[in-house]
Amino acid sequence: MAPELELPRRRLGRAGIEVGVLGLGTVKFGRDQGLKYPRGFTIPDDRAVRALLDLARDLGINLLDTAPAYGDSEARLGRLLRGTRDHWVICTKVGEEFEAGVSRHDFSPGHVRASVERSLRRLQTGVLDIVLIHSDGNDELIIEQSGALETLAELKREGKLRGFGMSTKTVAGGLRAAARCDLLMVSWNLADETEIPVIDRCRELGTGVLIKKALASGHALVAGDASVRATFARILAHAGVGSLVIGTIDPDHLRANVRAAVAASCDSGR
Ligand SMILES: NC(=O)c1ccc[n+]([C@@H]2O[C@H](COP(=O)([O-])OP(=O)(O)OC[C@H]3O[C@@H](n4cnc5c(N)ncnc54)[C@H](OP(=O)(O)O)[C@@H]3O)[C@@H](O)[C@H]2O)c1
Repeated sequence: MAPELELPRRRLGRAGIEVGVLGLGTVKFGRDQGLKYPRGFTIPDDRAVRALLDLARDLGINLLDTAPAYGDSEARLGRLLRGTRDHWVICTKVGEEFEAGVSRHDFSPGHVRASVERSLRRLQTGVLDIVLIHSDGNDELIIEQSGALETLAELKREGKLRGFGMSTKTVAGGLRAAARCDLLMVSWNLADETEIPVIDRCRELGTGVLIKKALASGHALVAGDASVRATFARILAHAGVGSLVIGTIDPDHLRANVRAAVAASCDSGR
């Protein structure tokens, strides 16, 4: 990609981690059940995933989002990123397990600790860049009663992770989490802007923000509700947003998304 098309980078709030304004979501690297995408798909083989990761890196992407609940995604990344680990900021999660087609949640300190240790092994790394609580929707209960955030803070002090936070599902939970986390992952697409107050609060507090579901898991494009560029321009104009995590296994979509993110950053003057 020509230098003038370089993917801009932003700092993830006080986490201080620098990421490209577009990140790559990796659900489809490891899981094809229980998802809400408009179309079915086949999980790509190692050769295709490796090619996609190489392309992402060449295009300036440095952020990968994964989770234990994304099937083989973590283990495949661990294997396929050997030799290039230093390039990447890897975000993974704790609290949701997906087995035999069914999700279950456990936010207890013991599970959080065991999950982080397992992610370190699966991702074949000595430190996790970002770990988020994978909320089941009961954000406030998890924050106030599970001990998960306290455990992540401990693991950070032990040097096992660089930044921690929560992938929230409610405005009330997001507002509460913003004060207790290095960064949050929140939903924002043009058909659903209800979580903007959470991003505003994060901006005030210096809490980093990752955006999930910016294309409404692909439904926004199928319905013709929004273009990728208009969506990215609107979201990246918010100074509180660090990066948009978009899921794709299609190299042409990845290229188009990077072009749109570069153009949107120019449009927004940021
Ligand atoms: N609770 C949580 O923590 C949580 C929940 C949901 C998602 N996430 C994270 O956020 C990421 C993104 O969420 P998401 O995957 O649900 O939604 P999304 O990024 O809004 O949409 C992804 C879908 O859009 C399609 N797509 C991407 N770029 C496209 C393009 N240029 N043209 C046409 N179609 C395009 C992809 O299909 P193709 O593969 O065909 O491109 C994929 O099916 C996930 O991968 C995951 O890492 C986290």
